[in-house]
Amino acid sequence: MKKIIAIILVAIMVLALAACGTPAKPAATEAPKAPESAAPSADAAKPAAVKTIVEGELHMATNAAFPPYEMIKDGGGFEGIDVEIATLIAEKLGLKLVVDDMDFTSVVPAVQTGKSDIAMAGLTITETRKENIDFTDSYATGVQVIIVKDGSDIKTVDDLANAKMIGTQAGTTGYLYCSASPEDGGYGEDKVTAFDNGAIAIQALLDGKVDCVVIDNEPAKAFVAANKGISILETEFTVEDYAIGVSKQNTELKDAINEILKELIADGTVKKIVDKYVTG
Ligand code: ARG
Repeated sequence: MKKIIAIILVAIMVLALAACGTPAKPAATEAPKAPESAAPSADAAKPAAVKTIVEGELHMATNAAFPPYEMIKDGGGFEGIDVEIATLIAEKLGLKLVVDDMDFTSVVPAVQTGKSDIAMAGLTITETRKENIDFTDSYATGVQVIIVKDGSDIKTVDDLANAKMIGTQAGTTGYLYCSASPEDGGYGEDKVTAFDNGAIAIQALLDGKVDCVVIDNEPAKAFVAANKGISILETEFTVEDYAIGVSKQNTELKDAINEILKELIADGTVKKIVDKYVTG
């Protein structure tokens, strides 16, 4: 039921976006797009000749401390929704996926400066990031949520204003929203601590160094499941679209990934991968 509501919400958002993105044209002009997209995917079995930084490899910049999208496997190596989708994309391009694990703040610059081919890190599409890199079509949505210690005085989004210190992951949308000035809907930089990753932010919450952590919903669920005494508030912050970042210099790669993503979404592969990691 939740999923149906989510799908309807996404559909409404897409329609709303389409409506405001093309004010001059009626919404119906969107319709003829379908055949256009069907044609190239028909021969998508043949990998398109895309250029990558290292021949034969597709380098994915990520921060593998963001379950269930990307995390380090017990025995080493990487796993998660993004890792699996990227592996399939690389395969279809005739390339080998190489995961470049780094701080989240380095993920967009890595693509921008040509150190990695793609940024895939539960990465939210934002206007500021769009100035530096291109984004593919979205393949998932995320919601910023609030994690608190059981019995906390923070019970709703409004209570965030009373938090002495809010924990976030450095460079993330959660950090940006919270650190914005109160006029812009935030709480000011002084009230927000940016940690290197989500796990460190959660440890700070457990240690009482911050009053709450603002983070994406799926990692939030994973962290709450792995630690006693913390929970996610019912109230949600914002809904965001995750997409793959690609260099503005490499539109061929972006186009090729979009074709593959379309296929993987249409044939249910993306949903299958998400369902494997996301329960409930
Ligand atoms: N969706 C948020 C953003 O784009 C957080 C992403 C954090 N990802 C990670 N792999 N640590 O800002």
